[in-house]
Amino acid sequence: MLTELPAHRPVMLDEVVATLSPGPGRTFVDVTVGLGGHAEALLATGATVMGLDRDAAALAQATRRLSRFGARFSAAHASFRELGTVLAARGLVSVDGLLADLGVGSHQLDAPSRGFSFQRPGPLDMRMDERLAPLSEHLAAMTEVTLGEVLWRFGEVPRARRVARAILDGVRAGTIGDTAALAETIARAQGGAGRRSRHHPATRAFQALRILVNDETQELASLLAEAPRHLAPRGRLAVIAFHSLEDRAVKRAFRQLAAACACPGRAEVCTCGAAWSFRLPSRRAVKPADDEIARNPRSRSARLRVLQRRASAARE
Ligand SMILES: C[S@@+](CC[C@H](N)C(=O)[O-])C[C@H]1O[C@@H](n2cnc3c(N)ncnc32)[C@H](O)[C@@H]1O
Repeated sequence: MLTELPAHRPVMLDEVVATLSPGPGRTFVDVTVGLGGHAEALLATGATVMGLDRDAAALAQATRRLSRFGARFSAAHASFRELGTVLAARGLVSVDGLLADLGVGSHQLDAPSRGFSFQRPGPLDMRMDERLAPLSEHLAAMTEVTLGEVLWRFGEVPRARRVARAILDGVRAGTIGDTAALAETIARAQGGAGRRSRHHPATRAFQALRILVNDETQELASLLAEAPRHLAPRGRLAVIAFHSLEDRAVKRAFRQLAAACACPGRAEVCTCGAAWSFRLPSRRAVKPADDEIARNPRSRSARLRVLQRRASAARE
């Protein structure tokens, strides 16, 4: 049974549990433990979970929330880049499953003091991890060209170059002191182009800036390179992405890994002798059910992809 904390039900919870098949004696790593919603559901089946997060405050809350599971839950303050080191230090060479629920959590988005929100004023921060440089430092050091590229590449922001110039002018003139002023500047610089979307005109730019501050592209690349190596035979890696840039990277990495084995897609045991053999239980991304989207509109863009390591006929 889930406790009342946090207010939001984790995204695609039933789908995640169904694909990872947790249970007693099985071990999982939740690399985005956040407030521990997914981890709690895995632990409730009797499984053991290591929860990793780069957000120390979230990790502390998750640890309190999950303390009733005793030694079956352990926590690590680390980013995806550090996954291999953390697993090695804990003696977790291979596990039955890894879960990544990517992006920013409600605990971060809904806290104005973290600077992720354009709805309420907050500092120009956006860090998931205090070890990183805040948005204000990035903006102080960026040129119009680089900022324009970031806005376009990570957010496909309309009139990206013009928006970049308006942001940097505002920062230098001291008129952009918080996220509300930043959002207003972005909306004004986009003009009619920003109003054509059904979202707030600053949504895409805020996404792009958050990806920059947290180096999310490189972080995801590290995760996709490292996590599959830690799957036990028949183990699964489940990744939930929230925007097309992320989902495309997951799809490409999973397809490349699956292509390295000549066995038929459905086979769960590798007979071709490949050193590492993976399959895609489903070639398409799984989307949230309509009732979940109705309950939690933020889940609308979630896409779940799963990679499974095959057992080897030679070693079975
Ligand atoms: C969407 S929330 C996860 C919510 C969680 N599944 C739950 O049920 O409460 C994403 C979490 O992943 C963390 N995160 C994002 N990128 C990360 C990275 N590169 N390394 C470690 N943690 C990361 C964030 O700090 C955030 O807490």
